[in-house]
Amino acid sequence: MTPAMQAEHISKVELYAELAAQLRALTGNESDPIANLANCAALLFHGLAEVNWAGFYFLKDGQLVLGPFQGRPACVRIPLGRGVCGTAAAKSITLRVADVHDFAGHIACDSASNSELVTPLLAPDGSLLGLLDLDSPKLGRFNADDETGVQNLARIIEQLLWTKK
Ligand code: SME
Repeated sequence: MTPAMQAEHISKVELYAELAAQLRALTGNESDPIANLANCAALLFHGLAEVNWAGFYFLKDGQLVLGPFQGRPACVRIPLGRGVCGTAAAKSITLRVADVHDFAGHIACDSASNSELVTPLLAPDGSLLGLLDLDSPKLGRFNADDETGVQNLARIIEQLLWTKK
């Protein structure tokens, strides 16, 4: 969150609209997906309060493999169906987990993480490309506005992946 955003106490809806605009501006003239995903992770890590990990996993050979992120070093490979990310990937659904310690198989990459929001990134045909993952040290950090906001960001990120050169 920039100092300006904090000072204004803007709503989550406004914050995600601002982040979407910043993401479009950051990536608009760049086609390299790693550069764009790296900047997206940094934007979310610094733009969202109380987030200790923000980044990507991508589906490769039937497993999730770590992509660009900000935060502590994370689990590199996650089998489909395992933990929050593996479950979201296997079902191609968004998962908003208020307390990760209550989620069977949760993978603790950072012991500080207490809540998590994961949303799928899809190809034009609806198949899974990967995930956008956010972790927070705060229990119940993510609400329905975060879920909608992050899903909207995922739609922008998908466009970046589809148009990569
Ligand atoms: N906690 C996740 C693993 C990824 S890290 O949070 C970055 C999970 O249970 O799938």
